[in-house]
Amino acid sequence: MQIQNNISLKPYNTFGIDVKAKQFVSVNSVEDLKAIYALEHTPNKFILGGGSNMLLTKDVDSLVIHLNIKGKDIIAKSDSEVLVQAMAGENWHEFVLWTLEKDFGGLENLSLIPGNVGTSPIQNIGAYGVELKDVFHSCDALNLDTLNIETFTKEDCGFDYRNSIFKQQAKGKYIIVSVVFNLSVNVHSLHTNYGAIQSELERMQVSKPTIKDVSKAVIAIRESKLPNPKEIGNSGSFFKNPIISSKDFLKLKENFPDVPHYIVSKDDVKIPAGWLIEYAGFKGKTFGTYGVHKKQALVLVNYGGSNGSDILKLSALIQDTVARIFDINIEAEVNII
Ligand code: EPU
Repeated sequence: MQIQNNISLKPYNTFGIDVKAKQFVSVNSVEDLKAIYALEHTPNKFILGGGSNMLLTKDVDSLVIHLNIKGKDIIAKSDSEVLVQAMAGENWHEFVLWTLEKDFGGLENLSLIPGNVGTSPIQNIGAYGVELKDVFHSCDALNLDTLNIETFTKEDCGFDYRNSIFKQQAKGKYIIVSVVFNLSVNVHSLHTNYGAIQSELERMQVSKPTIKDVSKAVIAIRESKLPNPKEIGNSGSFFKNPIISSKDFLKLKENFPDVPHYIVSKDDVKIPAGWLIEYAGFKGKTFGTYGVHKKQALVLVNYGGSNGSDILKLSALIQDTVARIFDINIEAEVNII
C-alpha cells in the first residue's frame, strides 16, 4: 500500500474531470483500509468508489482512498434462493453478468449501471422497475469511529428513492466494504412491466424471456439512450426526479396537460425531470466542451476537457429555468465535490 502525491483523478471519475488529489492510495483489503484509518497523522480522507456519481469541481485537498477491494462468493444456497456476497471494489456490471452466468435472478434489470458494488446501497440504485433494495440482504461497513465492522440489514439501511441512511444520518461515519444479495435460483420472477422492456423483447423476438434476455433488453435500451462513459464523460442522471404533492400536481397539469407523471402514493406524484428539462429547451444543447445529452435530458455530458465548475454552472442554470417555468425545484442526484 503506497501513498502517492498529486495524482490526477481523471481515470477515476466517469465524468472524466481532470482534477488532482493531494494524496492518493489504492486499498485492496479491509485490513489495509483499517490500517489507513488507524494512522495518527493522516489528513482528511475522501473515499472513492467507482467515481460514477460525482462531479469534481476542484482539486481534492485530502487523502483520496480508492476502494479496490475485490472478491465475490456464494455464501448460502437452497433450491429457490442464493445469498451472494460481493466486495465493495467489484465493478457493478461485471458482478451482474457473473450472477447471470450462474443463472441467479434479480439483478438483470440493473444491468450496465456504472459504478461499484460498494456504492450501490448508498443511493439505492434503480432502473427499469427494480431498485437495489428489492434484492439487498445486508451489507458490512467499517465504523470509522471504532474501526469495527458492523452489519446492516435491509431495515437498518432505510432505503428510499435514491436514498438510504448512508446519505443521511450515517453519512461520513461508515465505509461499506461488502454487500450480500438475495437472488433467485431455478424459478425467477421477471420485471418486464417497464414499457421499454416489453417492446425491446418484442423487437428481439423473444416471447418467453430468461433473465439473460431481460438483461440484454435493458442493455440495449440503456445503450440507445444513455452515453457510454468510456466514450462521453457523464454521471448518469444528473438530477433526481422531483416528487411533488398531489395538490401541486393538479395545478401543474392545468398549465401543462401533457406532463408525464407516476403516482407514488395518495399524496405524492413523481415527475420525470428529463421531461421538464427538455421542455425548458436544454435537451442536446452544447456549450463548447460540455452540455446536455441529446437523447436523455437528465444526463449532463463532458465531451472532453471541461471543468467541473462549468458543468455545475450549467446545472444551476437548468435548475433556475425549470423553477421559473414550472415552480418545481430539481435536486442534483450526483455528489458535487
Ligand atoms: N423524458 C423526456 N425527455 C428526456 C428524458 C425523459 O421527455 O430527455 C421523459 C420520457 O419520455 C418518459 C420519462 O421522462 O416519459 C421517463 O424517462 P426514462 O424512462 O428515460 O427514465 P428517467 O426517469 O428519465 C430514471 C432513472 C434512470 C433509470 C431510468 C430507467 C432517476 C433520476 N433516473 O430516469 O437512472 O435508468 O429511470 O429506469 O431516477 C441514473 O440514476 O443514473 C439513471 C440513469
